[in-house]
Amino acid sequence: MRNWVFKEMQYKHLPVLRKEVVHYLNLKNGDIVFDGTLGGAGHTIEIIKAIAPTGKIIGVDLDSQATGTAARNIEYAGFGGLAHIIKGNYSNIKKILNALKIRQINGFLLDLGLSSIQLGESGKGFSYMRKEKLDMRFDEESDISAFDIVNNYQEDRLKEIFYKFGEEPWAARIAAEIIKRRKVKPVEFTDELVEIIKNSIPLKYRRRGHPAKRVFQAIRIETNCELENLKTALCDGLELLVPGARMAIISFHSLEDRIVKEYFETFAGRCKCPPGMPVCICGAKKRGNIVTKKPVKPSEAELKKNPRAKSAKLRVFEKI
Ligand SMILES: C[S@@+](CC[C@H](N)C(=O)[O-])C[C@H]1O[C@@H](n2cnc3c(N)ncnc32)[C@H](O)[C@@H]1O
Repeated sequence: MRNWVFKEMQYKHLPVLRKEVVHYLNLKNGDIVFDGTLGGAGHTIEIIKAIAPTGKIIGVDLDSQATGTAARNIEYAGFGGLAHIIKGNYSNIKKILNALKIRQINGFLLDLGLSSIQLGESGKGFSYMRKEKLDMRFDEESDISAFDIVNNYQEDRLKEIFYKFGEEPWAARIAAEIIKRRKVKPVEFTDELVEIIKNSIPLKYRRRGHPAKRVFQAIRIETNCELENLKTALCDGLELLVPGARMAIISFHSLEDRIVKEYFETFAGRCKCPPGMPVCICGAKKRGNIVTKKPVKPSEAELKKNPRAKSAKLRVFEKI
């Protein structure tokens, strides 16, 4: 038992905006909550405290290392009986709840992206700071890995994903360089990809931050269909909330945050008809209210303890 505690401590994931999430979800004893991004169960355990002793949490993660860690952490905190832990995709929220015979939920949380544990010790090649095999699959059983994308995608497609999912201005040069390199040998490891990216961006044009950051983000998003999963989960999650219940989403980059913001505006009934239309034809329908007019960001105190939280933005929506 103590060995895993020591290991967890080495690669601990600090839940971002932990107090704010629990505050905004506005929970009470007996509530049923869906946490689609279980990770190390940092948020989950705080939520359980708010819904105990009779509530239930359904904690889902694609990564079996995460579900294992979360199960141990929840058990260790003494809440084993209140959690269903499931290895699965949060975009399957309907199927997952259906299988558990749960029809409605009182809270919904997504803490997007990846955990410090995955970045640090998973060996899946998420980090451009370590030499690891190119993989980046949250779900080790999924068919497509970062290796397949880097080594099999056509140049145009690579360029498109670096541009669309990484907002990488040097997308075309990096894609062309990958194609050149893989004619010699497959790109197998993260450090090879980092070197290709560095060689593609002229020194004088390198922006702040690591030059590989945007391409690694893009490949991870593509590998795990992250943006599509998010869109599906937002719609299906809203349907499953009881009136008065809330969904809370923490995002870490502008692509995710834009999706959350736009979906919440749509859910709030914003009409998308072109200006000047005499009547609304887009079918806008108000299904609730945006609780956080501006996204909630971590405090200075939190950032001191956890600099990784820097780009986090929490948005919350309440169903009517
Ligand atoms: C930022 S971490 C969550 C950390 C967690 N809130 C905590 O406090 O420990 C995000 C987690 O979401 C998982 N994940 C990413 N996409 C997912 C998906 N589509 N379905 C389920 N889990 C997913 C990742 O494997 C990762 O463990």
